[in-house]
Amino acid sequence: MTEYRKAHERARLTPGDFWGEAASLIDWVSSPDRVLDDDRPPLYRWFPDATLNTCWNALDRHVEAGRGDRPAIHHVSPVTDSARTISYRELLDEVALFAGVLHGLGVRAGDRVIIYLPMIPEAVVAMLACARIGAVHSVVFGGFAPGELAARIDDARPKVIVTASCGIEPRQLVEYKPLIDAAVASATHAPERVIVLQRPQCRAAMGPIDLDWQEAMAGAIPHGTVAVRATDPLYILYTSGTTGRPKGVVRDNGGHAVAMAWSFANVYGMGPGDVWWAASDVGWVVGHSYIVYAPLISGATSVMFEGKPVGTPDAGAFWRVIEDYSVNGLFTAPTAIRAIKREDPEGALLGGRDISSLRTLFLAGERLDPNTYHWASKHLQVPVIDNWWQTETGWPIASNMRGMAPMPIKPGSPTVPVPGYEVHVLDDEGRKVAPHQEGSIVIKLPLPPGTLPTLWGDDDRYIDGYLTANPGYYTSGDGGYFDDDGYLYVMGRTDDVINVAGHRLSTGSMEAVVAAHPLVAECAVLGVHDDIKGQVPRALVVLKAGADIDPDVLSAEIVLAVRTEIGPVAALKSVIIVPALPKTRSGKILRKTMRAIADGRDEPVPSTIEDLSVLETITPLLTGRE
Ligand code: COA
Ligand code: AMP
Repeated sequence: MTEYRKAHERARLTPGDFWGEAASLIDWVSSPDRVLDDDRPPLYRWFPDATLNTCWNALDRHVEAGRGDRPAIHHVSPVTDSARTISYRELLDEVALFAGVLHGLGVRAGDRVIIYLPMIPEAVVAMLACARIGAVHSVVFGGFAPGELAARIDDARPKVIVTASCGIEPRQLVEYKPLIDAAVASATHAPERVIVLQRPQCRAAMGPIDLDWQEAMAGAIPHGTVAVRATDPLYILYTSGTTGRPKGVVRDNGGHAVAMAWSFANVYGMGPGDVWWAASDVGWVVGHSYIVYAPLISGATSVMFEGKPVGTPDAGAFWRVIEDYSVNGLFTAPTAIRAIKREDPEGALLGGRDISSLRTLFLAGERLDPNTYHWASKHLQVPVIDNWWQTETGWPIASNMRGMAPMPIKPGSPTVPVPGYEVHVLDDEGRKVAPHQEGSIVIKLPLPPGTLPTLWGDDDRYIDGYLTANPGYYTSGDGGYFDDDGYLYVMGRTDDVINVAGHRLSTGSMEAVVAAHPLVAECAVLGVHDDIKGQVPRALVVLKAGADIDPDVLSAEIVLAVRTEIGPVAALKSVIIVPALPKTRSGKILRKTMRAIADGRDEPVPSTIEDLSVLETITPLLTGRE
């Protein structure tokens, strides 16, 4: 038995022993006696009787151990032409001070704080300051518009919002404050204060509840760490579901800290002193776990990059950063590599760069297509490791265990289930299928530490959405299969979630915006293949009888509405008027059939379909063969 199989079996058969040992990677205020609380299935809790502070584990303990001068963050910002290195001690000082600011505003353990910041160190400061006083942060990605922000404000009910005057995108400066003002104006819940970091590139107009970050910090008293229960929430991260309403994925303190430390070492093979770069955004789960918590809890250095893989200034930006900061591990999304490959197909910009510090490239966020895998392997000359996971799990479900037992790589597969995850593939009747047969990918309960214990304020939605379709299992929403060697292949979502440039989006929420146009009778938004972004949304609309509008005008109006309601990240660029949508005889729109066509899958045409000619009209639109 390989070391991997032994570990996987131990975690499966004796999870209490396995995760009890892993818990020694963390400093506890009061150590766990009980590892797993399984009194209330299907809901489980890890380390129910323990207390700790996550910020202590990320910062104070390293400084106390005499490692305060080590770099915690290299902030590299080609979009502002600046760079800054922050030591563990400096980061701790800033975090303690900002924790004092929040405390001074009345924020206490359990209170929520929404963070809407670009990729600047202050985002990490704000997150860790919340963790320090036991407050619950909810970071919202900057590419979301006021409508999405307002939905999160109403669900999380934050006491305070933390933002900046602007974010800097390669093609434009995005003023954040007007977006916050619009969201606060339309939300039902009223936050008490908005803390605004004024960036030199743009000054935000301040209103009655606004507070300047610098001024607040100048008058603040540093705050110490507050012990919380391991089961208390550390953060809420909203993610797209099949309906328009975003789901607040809850992360606890204790299980999460253990999972971060364990996965950084065992999955990614990284440790104290390593320079690690997760080229994502703090607004996504990859950013939470692997820009902020895992590297800092583990005492590594985290590179925080404000820019894009291409265009800031060119497609060689990634290689330059690896050389300049001697990066040991890079983690990004396949779409970033495809964007680089399009600009620099022969890898010419790697020429003359010394990237010998790089040990591994990790890719996640969407399926790693074999072409991208081969290109990256050939040009970087390091193992290219696919890993599959979700906002809900917070860390990899399937990967090649680089720190434990590296295995041969098979392009197209994220390798094997990580210890702690018992993964199965089920058919529509809930039966386990044979190797190579595709089905729904599920994980046997309980999920390991660090995964979601529930959805914010909504146990029922968690149980209905994830734990009911296949009793005893967590249904991932992804489809795929195992091969004969136990390698997992993840082929794509089985629901209405799409993945655009590594960003997870709900077609349901886009459909709600499109359907609100006064001339639209009905619509369907589907993800269609895109060479760079993997998928892009395309809206098919049927006009109301007698509607008379120039298609370009209609398209512009709908694209603007989606941008304003959901945000530029939705990247809806294409609206197509069609005479009808395929429906069953009882009038139900056949979204599953259209999705199968868009994914290039051969799905049998349902016998209940009303009008087969509609399929002939829409097929070229969905497969890009117009
Ligand atoms: N704040 C404000 N606007 C933002 C934003 C932010 N934080 N992030 C993205 N946007 C805007 C962009 O400016 C763009 O607006 P535009 O339509 O006016 O040009 C739009 O949202 C779409 O952005 P994006 O999806 O990033 O597309 P892009 O064409 O600018 O870049 C990639 C494409 C592939 C280079 C880029 O998406 C990328 O680097 N992806 C990596 C994905 C990733 O990190 N995923 C996380 C999982 S690992
Ligand atoms: P998110 O919650 O934003 O991390 O998105 C999670 C979804 O992205 C998963 O449910 C998958 O559909 C997809 N995904 C993430 N990583 C991979 C991967 N390595 N291979 C295939 N799909 C992936």
